Parts: sequence; structure tokens; C-alpha cells
Amino acid sequence: MIGDKKVLFSGMQATGNLTLGNYLGALKNWISLSDEYECFYSVVDMHSITVRQNPAELRKRARALLTLYIAAGLDPKKNCIYYQSHVSGHAELAWILNCFTYMGELNRMTQFKDKSAKHADNINAGLFTYPVLMAADILLYQADVVPVGIDQMQHLELTRDVAQRFNHIYGNVFTVPEAYIGKVGAKIMSLQEPAKKMSKSDENPNASIYLMDEPDVIMRKCKRAVTDSEAQILYRKEQPGVKNLIDIYSACTGKTPDEVVKEFDGRGYGDFKVAVGEAVVSVLKPLQDEVERLNQDKAYIDGIIKENAEKANYYAMKTLRKVQKKVGFPERVR
Ligand code: TRP
Repeated sequence: MIGDKKVLFSGMQATGNLTLGNYLGALKNWISLSDEYECFYSVVDMHSITVRQNPAELRKRARALLTLYIAAGLDPKKNCIYYQSHVSGHAELAWILNCFTYMGELNRMTQFKDKSAKHADNINAGLFTYPVLMAADILLYQADVVPVGIDQMQHLELTRDVAQRFNHIYGNVFTVPEAYIGKVGAKIMSLQEPAKKMSKSDENPNASIYLMDEPDVIMRKCKRAVTDSEAQILYRKEQPGVKNLIDIYSACTGKTPDEVVKEFDGRGYGDFKVAVGEAVVSVLKPLQDEVERLNQDKAYIDGIIKENAEKANYYAMKTLRKVQKKVGFPERVR
């Protein structure tokens, strides 16, 4: 708890461009969370270097991601949006937690298996202990809840196990975090294979709408979206492509799927796709303009970065000092 609020922590990688699915399914729904939770959103650049990065590119993407979160409406005075690498406590706690995590546990992590298969030429120790750094992120802020996708669930389970193990030995040091199950946003599927989730790592550029796509690119992708030969706009699982477009239109306009079906009764797919494209542009264009405006205001963003790193550091150090004392490190002479 911080004050009378529970703590929410989430980390995001600055690799790959965020998609409309990330925005409508997650980000957009996080804006009101700061009323209820003390929220920390960390751009996890230390996690990113577990695979080889171009330094200039990583720096650029990390800043773009941080700016995008602010542009999307996360108030940086109410939400602590910061770079992981600016708070040394993450690395320090990760080391300690490494000594409380078993090789066997890390060996079972499916993401490690997947990533080591994908990057067979660079199976480094950081890739192996990635989940421990993630546990440190979460436990450092005594987070109560963590909004994670299904792919990160195993890492959250490990975090809970490590926290409980530590608490069992040293008393109640860590809050044991839970997955945040809140209002879920729309689940947006690929425009090309509507059985698959829209993904930032999809190899087909027409499958995903990226948040920074130009309006004409958005229109083109919507027009090319895969539908079917039923020639009717109905919201049902037998027409996954059309259903996905209805979901997108609905999330962008605030109308219910039923209302959308009524609105387009008797119209063709061509018309509908244009309307979907326009609805997406009407949501993304203001977001892009705000990113543009923030990019012009370097001093403002720099100030936010500094302030929020200090805030994060304050809470991180509180936990870290406690943990260091518990494990037997000598007290600092002031
Ligand atoms: N591993 C997460 C991902 O790839 C990112 C992440 C790092 C994270 N630390 C975290 C997510 C802490 C939640 C909490 O998506």
C-alpha cells in the first residue's frame, strides 16, 4: 500500500511497435486505474538487452514508448512512468533474488525455452535469469497487482513463489502480488488471420495497425482486411473477420456490437471497411498529434523522466534497504 492505495506495477518492452490491439485492449483501459491504484509503469530497458539491441535504436524506442504512454492519457503526475535502468534497485534486488531462485525453476520457463530457440547464438545468462529481474521489478514496489497477459503468467507465478519463499525465511518482507483481473478491453485480432491476436511481432505488415501508422496506411489496411463471402455484417463467430472489424469499430466509437450491426444493415463490406478505417483514424490521429506535440517539448518530457525516476527510486530504496538488512548486509554509516 502507498497511502490508502494498492500498488499496481507493469513493465513494458520497447521492442516492436505498439498496435491498435495493445491500445484498445490494454493501454486505453489503464487511464482510470490511477484513481484506485498507485501505478508504476516501467519501460524495462534492462530486460531488452537480454537480446542484442542497436543502442541508438533502443534509446529511441524507449523514449517513444514513454512518450506514447503519456500521450495516450496516462497522467505522469499520477502514474509513475519511468525507465527501469534509472533505478539501480532493480538490479540490486535481482541479484539477491537470484540467490533465492532455483535453476530448476528457471529451466521450466517456457519463454526462456522459446527465446533460446529463437536466439540460439546468444543464450546468455541474462536471458536465463530474466524472470528474476521481473520478480525484482514487481517486489521492489510491493505491488499488489500486476496486469499481465497470459504469456507472462508463468513469470508472475515464479515471482509469487520467490516472494513466499523469502517471506517464509525472513518474515513478511514482500507483498505477494496477484494478476490484475480488471475491466478487460476489446480483444483485437489480426486483420489477415482473424483467429490470431493482433500482434506487434506479426511478419505480415497488413495484419496489424500500428499506433503511429499514417491515416492512409490505416485506411489501406482496413480495406484489405480479410472477411468472408457471406456478404452480411453480423456479429457471430462464424464470421471472425467481420466480427473483428465490428469489435474495432465498436471500441473506437463506443457503440455496442448490436448497434453497429443495425447501423450497417444491408450495406456492403466495402462501405463498412471504410467506416472502420475512419473510426480508427479518428482515435489514432489525436494520439499521434499529441505524441508530436510532446516530442516538441523535450524539456517537459525530460522533467517527467527525472521526477518519476526519483519517485520510483524512493519506494525502491525503502524495500531494498529492508531486504539488505534481512539477508545480513552491514548497515550503512551515515
Ligand atoms: N516480461 C514482460 C513482457 O515481456 C515485461 C515486464 C518486465 C513486466 N517486468 C515486468 C511485466 C513486471 C509486468 C511486471 O511483457
